Amino acid sequence: MAKTRTSSVRFPNDGLVEIPYDIYTDPDLYRDEISKIYRGATWNYVCLAAQIPNHGDFVTSYVGETPVIATRDREGSIHVMENRCAHRGALVCLKNKGNAKLLSCVYHSWTYKLDGSLHGVAFENGVGGKGGLPEAFNKATNGLKRLKVTEFCGLVFATYSDETLDFETYVGPEIANHIRSILSKPLVYLGRNVQVLPNNWKIYNENLRDSYHASLLHTFFNTFKLNRLSQEGGIVVGAGGGSHISYGKSKTGVDHEGYKAEGIHSLKDMQLKDPSLLDALDESGEGMTTRILSVFPSLGLQCHYNSIAIRQVLPKGVGETELVWNHVGFVDDDEAMRERRLKQSNLVGPAGYISMEDGCIGGFVQQAIRGVSGEVGIVPMGGSGTESTDARATEVSIRGFWRAYRDFMGM
Ligand code: FES
Ligand SMILES: [Fe+2]
Repeated sequence: MAKTRTSSVRFPNDGLVEIPYDIYTDPDLYRDEISKIYRGATWNYVCLAAQIPNHGDFVTSYVGETPVIATRDREGSIHVMENRCAHRGALVCLKNKGNAKLLSCVYHSWTYKLDGSLHGVAFENGVGGKGGLPEAFNKATNGLKRLKVTEFCGLVFATYSDETLDFETYVGPEIANHIRSILSKPLVYLGRNVQVLPNNWKIYNENLRDSYHASLLHTFFNTFKLNRLSQEGGIVVGAGGGSHISYGKSKTGVDHEGYKAEGIHSLKDMQLKDPSLLDALDESGEGMTTRILSVFPSLGLQCHYNSIAIRQVLPKGVGETELVWNHVGFVDDDEAMRERRLKQSNLVGPAGYISMEDGCIGGFVQQAIRGVSGEVGIVPMGGSGTESTDARATEVSIRGFWRAYRDFMGM
């Protein structure tokens, strides 16, 4: 009988500060993560409800590595099911999106209802009384495999497990309230970018939670005096450690005075040719110009000025990750606000002025740890715990990620 190989990767101690490098490169551990995390008691971001507004609409997406379909049925309910035919395992939906009465597999034309149940089998009764399905074949147990679904502020999440906590308990009340505050009105889907990251999915999840690097790695911030770690802000770590929000408050636009008062080095003479890029309105009334939020293991939600984007982090093997950026606005945006959101969406995404470096920095880590065994990287900034803080020069939310990771993995 085939033996399942289990990973030999171990944390050096019970703490959250020392992270073994093998954790990003071990293929056996990666298989364990797919089953314990992505197919475990986690909520995985799938799509926006606004992408499937009408009866019969569908989009394809992923939960971990597994292709899934999200649909809206005649009653308006959203379903998420595996995009894998119950017959021979072919992809059922080949398109990214569409509208259909039934989902039909191209291989042998089996058809499925919008809730994933099996509808029709070609040549079910054979031909000329010969062949066909045996009488005992039960259509009811041969549909597409369904996942449990929840919708929160227009975000659709799915889970394989019946044990998964309800969404608000899963992220904790503070993170839930921040999501409510960012996605405060019905959403409209504006479009997406997709990029491939040459690194393990956890390295990107750490980057997403790493408030410390923003003003150092992303030179756009300092060049144009936009983001000081000394600005008012903070970090909230959600329930279980896996979710977080990092926020910064500043006057909108260029912060000449703040940089000058603190003597922070910046390229003084550089000016944006089109400063309207940063012409922002304080929509929440809370003065937050930057908010970056995560939900373990696959969601990033961020609001820079008036650009709002939802990032989906998808593992594609131990050393590769796909990152999908979904740009959104609100249904009631006027033309000027729609224009502003689209213009400011240039700040983020694969070639975004303040996010492009994140596309390669994980690859620099992945290259440097190749062949290394038994050594650790460290996240000591701001101590060793995972408590929320008003500091931003801290690695508290990365340690939160590892707390959740260790719990789900039993490590
Ligand atoms: S694999 Fe889908 S109908 Fe045969
Ligand atoms: Fe970054």
